[in-house]
Amino acid sequence: MSDFVSGFWSAYVALITLVSIVGCGVFLWFQGKARATAAATGTVETMGHVWDETLEEYNNPLPRWWSWLFYITVFFALGYLAVYPGLGAYQGAFGWSSKGQYDGEMKQAEAQYAPIFAKFAQQEVKAVAADPEARKMGERLFLTYCAQCHGSDARGAKGFPNLADKDWQWGGEPEQIKTSILEGRQGVMPPHAHLGAETVKDLAHFVRSLSPDKLAHDSARAARGKEAFATVGCAGCHGPDAKGMAAVGSPNLTDSTWLYGSSEATIIETIGKGRSNKMPAHKEFLGEAKVHLLAAYVYGLSQGGTEKK
Ligand code: HEC
Ligand code: HEC
Repeated sequence: MSDFVSGFWSAYVALITLVSIVGCGVFLWFQGKARATAAATGTVETMGHVWDETLEEYNNPLPRWWSWLFYITVFFALGYLAVYPGLGAYQGAFGWSSKGQYDGEMKQAEAQYAPIFAKFAQQEVKAVAADPEARKMGERLFLTYCAQCHGSDARGAKGFPNLADKDWQWGGEPEQIKTSILEGRQGVMPPHAHLGAETVKDLAHFVRSLSPDKLAHDSARAARGKEAFATVGCAGCHGPDAKGMAAVGSPNLTDSTWLYGSSEATIIETIGKGRSNKMPAHKEFLGEAKVHLLAAYVYGLSQGGTEKK
């Protein structure tokens, strides 16, 4: 591939390259001749440069081994540029390119793995999840494509859900997990600062009161928060019992798993400013067969996983 807009620049660059390399060789050859005359006459003269009082520069010839190394690099460069790309837009005698090599390797890998992917793609997610070979392949895919967000152990981080537990925003059935990966998901918790600081605080105390972890809360505030929860629209998304709804990706607020954190300040921030997070779609990028394996891997993790982070 060449990015040159016209043949002129390609020729120009090639010419400069060749002149520089050949010029180095010629220059070296002349230096060698000068050395021969100096050696013949047996005179070594100083160049007249003196440093640090006594350090003088003589016109001694270059060491032979050094000149030979230099000649070798010159010939190597010419040989290399003849067979590999490097001279302007010239492709080299071998016609090699990094893209060609990549495409070749991808084709080879495709041919090798396609039958394996195809075999698993025909099985149910649950059956694939039970297959040790499939789980290994799923894990490798996960580490390559998902770990940067969900962590190498799939246990997530603040804002990135834990995929190894039994708590799901968008549903933990095999098909729901697969849809999350294929199509992506976007959870939007709208900001509620307009309710006023007091009501937001009441709601935060109510949310904390729901947790099985007995988080400290003011019961008068929690009671007012409970009322607000039902009337200002929280229940519309999180459900009247606050257990979440897979259809909108709203989390269960009555368990001990937190996407953003359980401290009063964090919950007030969540309710007041809102939260929004996006799981990117992987359908185009990875294709059905790989996503099928990934869904099985994630499903398998949640089956063996523990309830808490
Ligand atoms: C750029 C970061 C990012 C990458 C990469 C990413 N995810 Fe996600 N993922 C998220 C976020 C953020 C969410 C939560 C979305 C929300 O808040 O609704 C999520 C949600 C999910 C869910 C739904 C969880 C639930 O509780 O319902 C699944 C399943 C999932 N991801 C699997 C994967 C898999 C498998 C991969 C690798 C192919 C992957 N993710 C790659 C950021 C990412
Ligand atoms: C439009 C639907 C919608 C409404 C209305 C809504 N929520 Fe949410 N809420 C969500 C979604 C979706 C998330 C998850 C955001 C994400 O994926 O990043 C969320 C997240 C949260 C969280 C964070 C939980 C955690 O694990 O960190 C809390 C707390 C919360 N909501 C409380 C409330 C309260 C209180 C109200 C009422 C004032 C409310 N929500 C109204 C959809 C909604």
